[in-house]
Amino acid sequence: MKAILTGLLGWTDARFPLSKMWNEHLAKYYAPKNFNFWYFFGSLALLMLVIMIVSGIWLTMYYKPSADEAFASVEYIMREVPMGWFIRYMHSTGASFFFLVVYLHMFRGLMYGSYKNPRELLWVIGMAIYMLMMVEGFFGYLLPWGQMSYWGAQVIISLFGALPFGLGEPLTLWIRGDYVIADATLNRFFALHVAAVPLALLALVGAHILALHEVGSNNPDGIEIKKNKDVNGIPRDGIPFHPYYTVKDIWGVAVCLILFAAVLFFAPTFFGYFIEQPNFVPANPLKTPEHIAPVWYFTPYYAILRAIPDKLTGVIAMFASTLIFFVLPWLDRNPIKSIRYRGPLFRLLLGTFVVTFLVLGYLGTQSPTAAGSELGFRLGELYFSFFLIMWLYTKPRTLSFNYTVLGIVAVLFIFFDAIRFDSDKGTLIVVSSLLVIGYYVVFVLGSMYTKLNEPKPVPERVT
Ligand code: HEM
Repeated sequence: MKAILTGLLGWTDARFPLSKMWNEHLAKYYAPKNFNFWYFFGSLALLMLVIMIVSGIWLTMYYKPSADEAFASVEYIMREVPMGWFIRYMHSTGASFFFLVVYLHMFRGLMYGSYKNPRELLWVIGMAIYMLMMVEGFFGYLLPWGQMSYWGAQVIISLFGALPFGLGEPLTLWIRGDYVIADATLNRFFALHVAAVPLALLALVGAHILALHEVGSNNPDGIEIKKNKDVNGIPRDGIPFHPYYTVKDIWGVAVCLILFAAVLFFAPTFFGYFIEQPNFVPANPLKTPEHIAPVWYFTPYYAILRAIPDKLTGVIAMFASTLIFFVLPWLDRNPIKSIRYRGPLFRLLLGTFVVTFLVLGYLGTQSPTAAGSELGFRLGELYFSFFLIMWLYTKPRTLSFNYTVLGIVAVLFIFFDAIRFDSDKGTLIVVSSLLVIGYYVVFVLGSMYTKLNEPKPVPERVT
């Protein structure tokens, strides 16, 4: 038997680089030996991608992409198709898990500076994946043709109507393919959701892994293992990906699947966060739901959009808040990669960014209130300030440089407050401004007058 298999492998290798690829990407691909918990999420993102594609293919066998039949076909899948409910919940829970895993994967990148030289392109490809995931999620959400599908898409598509120079109206018409969201919209969203975007995603994930294997993995210490090789050219601080990390990743996969199963079987709607209640009601173009909110993974950006009174400025800020991650490798040029060797101020900065992102996410799920919008606006300012301060921390700056930056920011923020000022909100605006002032005092003045931003020496090798 062994002889037959060896013969078959030899026959294949003479015609296709099977063993070569296995060795290059697994058995002889050296990964740093100090990976920790945060390095599970890349393989888990792959797992989620597979779950989404497989469950999606099965759903497509029964789903009907027509305005008259879509909602009923999903109900048919849930009630009549054997195990249909399982496949459907796998797909809906999978979408949220996919985003959760990718957010943790990105956060790891922020903690360990994985976007820095030489991994800029790897990060940019990752960002392109993230953008496509959002587009995919948006298209997919229309397909069940429930109330939230319909009105959520209505709100988002109408945002393009804010574009100036007469571009907005024709663009929204072009996206919808009709004057309202209708059958034509559903058909094109279906085609893009099941074919175009998944193909592009798969291609980008392939490019992501190739780029990763070209530069090699970063690690919690930020050490470049390729710079320190033994006489055989093997990185001293590396271990072969297979079997060490393939086995370790199986453990991560098992834990993830247990959590996934717990949600899928016991709380598939996850209290209205994974599938919103109004989506159990068929789309009705004549009845707007009381409260329209996107799914949780979009809500931080939605909160930024909603907090800005002017529609066009809100749309620009919302897109800018996602796109700004693309340029992070060029904003943060601090040569120290890992958070382990950065000063306490940097740790606090990243922690504050996470809290900002989470609170914005929460606000985006809630009905708008005056206080909520005001908090959203301030957190939006802090959100963008994070990137500015990453850039300020790139290298030691002079006092006059920092004061000039502070001056420009103050003028800009006071200008924003002046144009949105009205007597009803006066007190709120003044009180909430303390949040921004406190932020700049801690992170800019703190780095100028204390030693809290001083880095620790980075070791040359993993110890
Ligand atoms: C479908 C989505 C994605 C998949 C399947 C995926 C897959 C992977 C895998 C398998 C790794 C190596 C294992 C690891 O480091 O955890 C990795 C590394 C990496 N990914 Fe992703 N990724 C995805 C999305 C993203 C996104 C959205 C970003 C950032 C915007 C990103 C940025 C990175 C970076 C910077 C690394 C290198 C990390 C390091 O070496 O410290 N990825 N990815």
